[in-house]
Amino acid sequence: MGSVRRRPLKTVTGVSGSADVYAAAVDPGRSTLASVVEIAKLAEANKFDALFAADLLSFGAQGAIGAQEPLIVVSALSSVTSHVGLIATVTTTYHHPFNLARLFGTLDHVSNGRAAWNAVTSSVGEENYGAGDLPGPEERYARATESIEVINALFDSWGSGALTPDGRGGAVLDASLVRPIDHAGEYFTVRGPLNIPPLPQRRPVQFQAGQSAAGIELGARFAEVVFTSLPTLEDAVTYTKQIRSRAVELGRAQELPLIMSSFHATYGASEAEVRRLVREREEATDFEAGRLALADMFGGGIDLTELPLDRPIPDHLLPDVQSVQRRRGRVDIFTAFARSGKTLRELIIAAKDTGHWAPAGTPDQLADAIAERYDAGVLDVISLGGLADPRTRDFVLNGLLPELRRRGIVGTDYVGATFRENLELPPLPEP
Ligand SMILES: Cc1cc2nc3c(=O)[nH]c(=O)nc-3n(C[C@H](O)[C@H](O)[C@H](O)COP(=O)(O)O)c2cc1C
Repeated sequence: MGSVRRRPLKTVTGVSGSADVYAAAVDPGRSTLASVVEIAKLAEANKFDALFAADLLSFGAQGAIGAQEPLIVVSALSSVTSHVGLIATVTTTYHHPFNLARLFGTLDHVSNGRAAWNAVTSSVGEENYGAGDLPGPEERYARATESIEVINALFDSWGSGALTPDGRGGAVLDASLVRPIDHAGEYFTVRGPLNIPPLPQRRPVQFQAGQSAAGIELGARFAEVVFTSLPTLEDAVTYTKQIRSRAVELGRAQELPLIMSSFHATYGASEAEVRRLVREREEATDFEAGRLALADMFGGGIDLTELPLDRPIPDHLLPDVQSVQRRRGRVDIFTAFARSGKTLRELIIAAKDTGHWAPAGTPDQLADAIAERYDAGVLDVISLGGLADPRTRDFVLNGLLPELRRRGIVGTDYVGATFRENLELPPLPEP
């Protein structure tokens, strides 16, 4: 009996830390990229499939200063690496698709086929882009849909054979095979064609993050990989079924989109140490600040300041998700948590992980948790954080990753030249 080889679990790590940015601001001799360069090289030496740069368009939002621009960060990292994929998070809400096509197209050129775009619609930053409010989710997602359609058309605007070798080390252009896209839509008018040659990957790998109903629709339509925060196995199963069945309805390949999950793990060398670390983390919780942070997880429209800590939140206080203008997907997660009977105290502790998958265990136990989702078919790509911290780095590189490789879940080397090949994605549809 032959068995079908399953695509190994692909691995990603984050490169959007801002520690160097603070340090360099007070020490002009220091590079703002020093530690992410180190992480990028370490990730590649350990055969991670990709580096991931998240984004935050606002100062002070979510308690952070913001983020350096992801495309610039990953393009800098492209010159100190040669195999690892480069995923940049960039919003469609405040960018023009012609610029995005050129930016990601150029990243694909300079990295020899390692570019990926994590398309988001953003939930903050409106104060920096004009006097208006944040556009509502329906408008953000409508604009995202049109943006991606335009961008894909631009990537496909060079017909095959438009460039051929001239036999002397150069190339000959047949401009008649490079065609305008003549797009005139609700948000954009773009004649095209794209003004750079075809990309090594034809299109950068398309990631998408945002898991409200409209986010799932966008992901089902276009994403090759969706970046998710799915705290429980049940959440992962429900979400995967929903997005893949919609993707099939839209005529996409059965296995798309691949599911990428965050993994906010607490690592310990023994079960006793894991219990101690979890307890210490809970004990360090500032419950007064936590009430505000949790209210934010619910979209910011509810007041939790007077509620007793050891009771669940009364159902009538929970927001109607349709009234939320920012991250609806996260409101769905916390509403489900609240309805499962968790107390306010437990919800405040859970809010520290902002709805991400956050198991605790020894490397072997964490490998079991990953294997469970991988075997259930709801996990294709995992984002393993913590490489900047020496202790977690040791757990990840010398504990968890070797264990996942020993079990045959994670591969041992790059399998192709481009990121698309390394992810073992099904072929792109014909233009
Ligand atoms: C796992 C995950 C990661 C995300 N990362 C980012 C990010 O780095 N930058 C950003 O602007 N938005 C990010 N988004 C947010 C969404 O694009 C966004 O805020 C959107 O407006 C609403 O998301 P929703 O569909 O989940 O409600 C992320 C969303 C998810 C689910």
